[in-house]
Amino acid sequence: MTLNIADILARQPSGLPRYTSYPPANHFRPDGGPGLLDGLVSAARGAEKLSLYIHIPYCDRMCWFCGCHTKQTLRYEPLAEYVKVLVQEIALWGEKLGRRVPVSTLHLGGGSPSLLKREELAIIRAALHAAFDFSQGPEVSIEIDPSDVKDGTVADLMAFGMTRASIGVQDFDPAVQAAINRPQSFELTQSVVHTLRAAGVRSINIDALYGLPLQDKAKLACTVMQVLELEPDRIALFGYAHVPWMKPHQKLIDETTLPGAADRIASAALAARMIADFGYRPIGIDHFAKPDDSLARAARHGKLHRNFQGYTDDDAEVRLGFGPSSIGCFPGGYVQNEVATGRYTAFIQSGRPALARGLALTEDDRMRGYVIERLMCDFTVGFDELVQRFGLAALPLIGDACSIASGEYAELCWVDDSGLYMEKEAWPLVRIIAAQFDAWLKPAEQRYSKVV
Ligand SMILES: C[S@@+](CC[C@H](N)C(=O)[O-])C[C@H]1O[C@@H](n2cnc3c(N)ncnc32)[C@H](O)[C@@H]1O
Ligand code: SF4
Repeated sequence: MTLNIADILARQPSGLPRYTSYPPANHFRPDGGPGLLDGLVSAARGAEKLSLYIHIPYCDRMCWFCGCHTKQTLRYEPLAEYVKVLVQEIALWGEKLGRRVPVSTLHLGGGSPSLLKREELAIIRAALHAAFDFSQGPEVSIEIDPSDVKDGTVADLMAFGMTRASIGVQDFDPAVQAAINRPQSFELTQSVVHTLRAAGVRSINIDALYGLPLQDKAKLACTVMQVLELEPDRIALFGYAHVPWMKPHQKLIDETTLPGAADRIASAALAARMIADFGYRPIGIDHFAKPDDSLARAARHGKLHRNFQGYTDDDAEVRLGFGPSSIGCFPGGYVQNEVATGRYTAFIQSGRPALARGLALTEDDRMRGYVIERLMCDFTVGFDELVQRFGLAALPLIGDACSIASGEYAELCWVDDSGLYMEKEAWPLVRIIAAQFDAWLKPAEQRYSKVV
């Protein structure tokens, strides 16, 4: 059977959540409700291990496509000042937990953490080691904009403890780069990859985008070939999310040069085929990994997870987020920090957590979240496992799965006694099936990025 993906998409809401959490973050409520944070913190105290995310909300350039929470600064002072506040927040959480909980993973994202200089990296490292237990040798991953990398940058990041690097490429074509205000040569990127490898970085990820202005299949194919030449351990191939109502600088992109739905689908499919033909294993909807990479191993064993950074093999149940806009995840719910750096700073300097929004999860949220995460990671959900975890309360969802697979979405998925399965050809459309289990979704009231 050949699916007519464009036809199926035309029958859907134009956008759907990316399901990096369930419920998606736009449903978090102001301050999350009474006692939310205290309840979550007391659960976190007993955690076996923690995953940490640190947000650096600064860049020295503004790429017009960027959907991240960041601000351009041409001076270093704002970063140095920001780090002083960040370490107060780290200490605050250390005090709240009351013991140095072991850390399994630490991710520095942004923005551009690669702008941080040796001194600020050392200050952050010292604060982290004072508040948490790093004795188990956690994975430390850092997002790197190659244009930031100067002599000594990689050595400084290694001294911080970096074990993995994630490099932003997006597209190597000069016309596409001009249309998104992101000049970045292949040679520069290649030299950063070599420096990282020579310094002993165990794993390198490269981010590329499809759906960019002026991009066509041929240009994307050239970018993919160049990315493959760099032999990264992982590749993330994201669909460009054009959301100018949320990110006004995206209005600088000429919308008439954006590829249409059919071109986006064809480009994504071609790139995915090329990457898979090179021996990478597809992971979820937008990642690829070498077969011996831990992400590929996790995918093989049904142990993949999805969080605000995308796909991960990190199975820590508690994840703390530091910095403006960062999200903390707990078995009982989510908390999100103030998005504006000024308001975030004011909270932390007054000795209070910078909580802006959050949500306590109900058992129904947890159950639907489990179904959606398994679909997004494995394209299937097993009924036995669902009932084992949630008991008889899961039966209505199994009933829903049967209706979905026998009704409008019969060409995308099927059910048998053991579970719900997506047709392989329909995997890129998994957000459509995931959305059928989303009790919070109101597509008429909310705007999301394109499904493919
Ligand atoms: C924080 S940036 C990466 C680190 C560094 N600042 C850089 O640009 O190289 C994270 C990644 O998010 C992805 N991204 C940013 N804006 C996006 C958008 N509007 N749609 C899809 N992906 C986007 C890009 O692939 C980017 O590399
Ligand atoms: S893509 Fe990276 S470098 Fe460009 S503005 Fe966004 S976070 Fe900054």
